[in-house]
Parts: sequence; structure tokens; C-alpha cells
Amino acid sequence: MEKYVIQGGNPLRGEVEISGAKNAAVAIIPAALMVRGVCRLENLPEISDTDTLLHILTYLGAKVNMINRTTVELDCTHVQMDILPEKMWELTRKIRASYYLIGAMLGRFGRARSTMPGGCNFGERPIDQHIKGLTALGADMDVNGGFIRAAAKGGRLKGTTVYLDKVSVGATINIMIAAATADGRTVIENVAREPHIVDLANFLNSMGADVRGAGTDVIKIRGVKQLHGGSYTLIPDQIEAGTYMAAVAAAGGTIRVSNVIPKHLECISSKLREMGVQVEEGDDYVLVRREGPLHRANLKTMPYPGFPTDMHPQMTAVLCCAPGVSVVTEGVWSNGRFKYVGELKKMGANIQVEDQSAFVQGVDHLTGATVKACDLRAGAAVVIAGLAASGVTKVEDISYIERGYQNLVGKFRALGADICCVDEPDLPDGQHSAGWIAG
Ligand code: EPU
Repeated sequence: MEKYVIQGGNPLRGEVEISGAKNAAVAIIPAALMVRGVCRLENLPEISDTDTLLHILTYLGAKVNMINRTTVELDCTHVQMDILPEKMWELTRKIRASYYLIGAMLGRFGRARSTMPGGCNFGERPIDQHIKGLTALGADMDVNGGFIRAAAKGGRLKGTTVYLDKVSVGATINIMIAAATADGRTVIENVAREPHIVDLANFLNSMGADVRGAGTDVIKIRGVKQLHGGSYTLIPDQIEAGTYMAAVAAAGGTIRVSNVIPKHLECISSKLREMGVQVEEGDDYVLVRREGPLHRANLKTMPYPGFPTDMHPQMTAVLCCAPGVSVVTEGVWSNGRFKYVGELKKMGANIQVEDQSAFVQGVDHLTGATVKACDLRAGAAVVIAGLAASGVTKVEDISYIERGYQNLVGKFRALGADICCVDEPDLPDGQHSAGWIAG
């Protein structure tokens, strides 16, 4: 099994370039299914979730032409399929964003069928708001036996007003995509305002759609007959940038995080400052320095512009070594997404979870151990802990991490971290392969 092996303790120094935003890419690629013509996407992150979606589009009959590692030309003009065939089910079940294919197919063909999506397992991940929105647009929705079937009454969706009972990134995106070519005007109220919602709106508009208000809590869409080809550059990944910022906070050192939109990072920057980290903003970079001791801090995750839930595990990892008690409260996912806590405890962290909060009592230092990436951001958290710990940390189940971080090992190595990816056989619990230094 492939693992990351980290010898902790090196401060980070140098520059890291942030890749395109994962959660924008996984919305924009399915949305490209609506486009008749060549759609050129630049600054696409090179991660397994985008690969999976590009594979699905290829199966559906799209021409997918990789111009270079981060630029692709997609031509979905001749795609006819509105049903995802069985050989694709393994792929659609692997990732969360496969449910955006439902919005896109409904918008384009008036019919859609796919499996229920996969993605990080935080317990229950309901899709009732997606169903509510697509039903309001005039689709008959049937969710049964692990499949989603949708059919627009009369073959076309019709614009309407939808109020989301819960602020949902996914439901906002699915409804936006479907409404782009619906008849008439759609108003979506109480929507998510994350940067990738704005990015999707900008993408759709550059392909001929008429979407206004993205970034506020009401989005208005005037349906157009069809979308045309064009070129679009994705925004940088807010969470990838935040992860490197958290890493230098934990391990110490000074790094320049470049190709970012500092405004998207404001709440992360100000929380890190509260923790004793220096953050200076440039036009398209942030300079992050941590030399002195960390300070304890509390944080609560909320929908944007609140503190991002996708930075919660990484920040807990940083706070493990801040003297005093810090409280990290999860305000987006109702089951707390705290599976990573058990892994940090294996490294000597002192954390108690109660309801939606983790109470983190700072310890002198963390110690390397063999840990698992329980999900994408949980994986980032144990990597950060490993970089700060004394001794060797082995991170298993790294496929979760590779779903969302482009070249994580290469980027950390360029910052001076001692991290590598090795392929070594699994041994029974408690046994270590030769060369393993017990932490
Ligand atoms: N919710 C409902 N009903 C719905 C949809 C969501 O009750 O129909 C609830 C969820 O249970 C949750 C809250 O609403 O409590 C927010 O869920 P949301 O729909 O916003 O999340 P998502 O679209 O499933 C995306 C990201 C996640 C990120 C969340 C929140 C993608 C592919 N995933 O998920 O990203 O945590 O928004 O910001 O965009 C990650 O990148 O690591 C990741 C998990």
C-alpha cells in the first residue's frame, strides 16, 4: 500500500504555488456537459476527482483533449447519453460531485439517471435540497435503491423561485447548472456564497448563460436556449492555500503561498494571526511566518464567509501544540467530522470531543506514529501533524488526500519538508518494516 512517510521537525521555507480550486473544478466539469462547442478550461487541478469526472465525460462521448497538465479542451457537442451506463457506476459512486451530472443532464436533455454520489464520509449527507430545487424546476425526481432518476415534465425545465431550507453548496450548484438553460427566470434564495459558487457562475456566463447575484444569498438566472463554447480559467484553491498556511503555522518557518486570492483567505489569515502567526497579504500571494510559540484560539466553522469547514481538521492539528485549551466547533456538518481526532491522539494529542466541539489541550510536542487519512481534510491534518511532530509519521489511505491535493508530496518537499511516498507491504498491527523508526 502506498503511504506517506514524514520525518517531522523541519521548518518550512520557500514558495508554494497553489493549484486550481478542486470544488470549482468538480462543478465546472459536469457543467461543461451543457455546452455545445469547445470549452477550454485552464488552471484545472491535477487531482483524482477531476480525473474521475473527465473519465465519465469521455465515456459519455465527450472529446477530452488534455492540452497540458492543467488545461483541457472539452467538447460535449455530440454527447447523447442521459443515462450513466453501468460501467460508470463505480466512478459516480466514488465522488460527491457526480450528482452535478444530474443537474447538467436534466438541463441539456430533460432527463437524467445516475447513482447516488460518494465522497468523504461524514456520516449522513442528505440531498433533499437538490431534490427540492430540481423538483421546483419541474422535474419528476425519484431516489431509490441507490439511484437518482429525473425527468423534466414536457421535456424541459421551467424557471421558478426556490428557497433553500439549508445553505448548501451542492444544492446551489446543481440548481444553478440545471436552471442555466431552463425556460424563463429562476430565483434561488438562501444560497451558498463560497468562492467556487461565484466561479461556477462566471464559467456559465462566459459560455453564454445569464446568472447574477452569485456571492450574495440570492442568485437570479435567466434561462438561455443553449450554452456555447469558450475559454475559462479556474480560481485558485482556497483550502489548498489554507492547508499550506496551517502547515507552516504547525511546523514553523516562513513560506510564500502564491497564486491565491488573498480575500478568499481572510478568515484563515486572521485566525492564524490570533494564533501568533504572521500573515502578510500581497496582490496574489500571502507570506506566512511562524517563529514564536503558538497561542490558543477558538474557532467555529460556518458557510462562507465564515470559517471554512474544510479547514477544520488542519486547524485542530495546528492547535494541538498551542498551550492552553482551544475549542474547535463544527457548524456545518452535524456529525462533527471528528474522525481524525483518534489519529491525532495516536501522535500524543490531547483532544476530547463533546457534541459538535473538540476541546484541544495543547501538548509540548507531537510524536510520529502510523496514522490513517480518514477523509481528504482529515488526511491533510495528519500530514500537518506529522510535519510538526518529532520522529517518523506514516500516513496510510492516502488515496483520500490525492483526491484533492495536487502533488502534495512534491510541494512540501520543495518547502524543505522530509516527506516521501513509499509503496510498502501491509504488516500485521504492531509490526513495522525494516528501517521504520518507532515514534
Ligand atoms: N445538506 C442538507 N441537505 C442537502 C444538502 C446539504 O441538509 O440537500 C446539509 C449537509 O448535511 C451539511 C450542510 O447542508 O450539513 C452543508 O452541505 P453542502 O451541501 O454545503 O456540502 P456539499 O455540497 O455536499 C461541499 C464540498 C465539501 C464541503 C461542503 C461545505 C464539494 C464537492 N464538496 O459539499 O467539501 O465540506 O461543501 O462547504 O464541493 C472537501 O472538499 O473536503 C469537502 C468535503
